[in-house]
Amino acid sequence: MASKSYFDLIVMFIVFVSLVPHLVFGSSRSHFLPNKASGSPVTRMYGICATAVTVHGYTCQEYDVTTDDGYILSGQRITAGLAEGNGLNRQPVVLQHGLFVDGMTWLMNSPQQSLAMILADNGFDVWISNLRGTRYSRRHVFLHSLHPQFWDWTWDELVTHDLQSVIEYVYGQTGQKIHYVGHSMGTLIALASLSEGLQIDKIKSAALLSPIAYLSHVTVPFSGARGPPVITSIEYNPSGVDANNYFKIVCANPALNCFDFLTAFTGKNCCLNQSIIEFYLDNEPQSTSTRNLDHFGQMTTSNDVLSKYDFEGFNILRYGQLQPPTYDLTKIPTNFPLFLSYGGQDKLSVPQDVITLLDKLKLHDKDKLKVQYIEEYAHLDFIIGVNAKDIVYNQVIQFFRSHN
Ligand SMILES: *[C@@H]1O[C@H](CO)[C@@H](O)[C@H](O)[C@H]1NC(C)=O
Repeated sequence: MASKSYFDLIVMFIVFVSLVPHLVFGSSRSHFLPNKASGSPVTRMYGICATAVTVHGYTCQEYDVTTDDGYILSGQRITAGLAEGNGLNRQPVVLQHGLFVDGMTWLMNSPQQSLAMILADNGFDVWISNLRGTRYSRRHVFLHSLHPQFWDWTWDELVTHDLQSVIEYVYGQTGQKIHYVGHSMGTLIALASLSEGLQIDKIKSAALLSPIAYLSHVTVPFSGARGPPVITSIEYNPSGVDANNYFKIVCANPALNCFDFLTAFTGKNCCLNQSIIEFYLDNEPQSTSTRNLDHFGQMTTSNDVLSKYDFEGFNILRYGQLQPPTYDLTKIPTNFPLFLSYGGQDKLSVPQDVITLLDKLKLHDKDKLKVQYIEEYAHLDFIIGVNAKDIVYNQVIQFFRSHN
């Protein structure tokens, strides 16, 4: 009882503090909410372009996309590679990161090993997206990131707002259909989106690395006991004060190393560079919302039914029905080009769960579905493995070229 009222006090305090700007400036700014996605190139001195792309000699442009529900997402466009042949009809590719990370994950290794720069060198027009709540996407047209309402979402909203807005913006800027690469949660939101037919006319193909749709075989910690639904969603910052900078403390302990620690969460990654791990932990993990985490928890007990967030007693209020609506992945058009790559050691995209996903795609046109299984790969090998270029990215590029 005592701890509950203490929690309530903290929530009330946060709400109060974050309401102050509203009380002072009023909420009339909501009138400026765009009714569809809008965006623009911007100049940022210390963004991802400056810290991780232009230092290697690549041309990189920061851009902002305002989602239709008011979040201002930052992104990075790599417009040219180092190789010759730049400027010729470059095909746009959107890179979508996963849970607890941001777009930086595509840029951690050397340029010869990092997907974003490899794509640029292969003549693609690379657009990196950063989802709401991550380091460079913590702005909103009128909500402060300390306001609980800023965190009132799960990946359902990433499907209906962030992804749609980014796709619409990139399509508007380039006038071309888009190739998509997602990792982990970046695959989940694409699959959900494709199953709902959202923006499907603007996407040319999708490469899904460590695909996630069903989590029945996941054993990592976020699959904790099912609690009541999260009604007041707040920020969950795994490296913040609340988590006691958990990640870094574990890594500083010589008795445990970061490899072991990451292994517990992601599986036994075969091919990570020790010096990259430290860089990775300096840059990640990133915040998400508590309800989003709970949504993943719900997925672990959902008997292979992919649903929107289950508000239980509040479903009627939210959805007008007792059970949350489901995403039917068999509705993904069977002629939509899909490339799936999954690893035998992955603890988040577990092979048995990927097989459940492949079963939903069993009627897919054979020449439109390419599946790659890499026995020794775990979750992070797909984005920061030192040999991912040879094993995975070359396949992705070949796949994109054959579905132009
Ligand atoms: C590991 O990272 C270091 C520092 O970035 C780099 O010098 C080295 O070549 C990398 N090793 C491999 C195998 O990629």
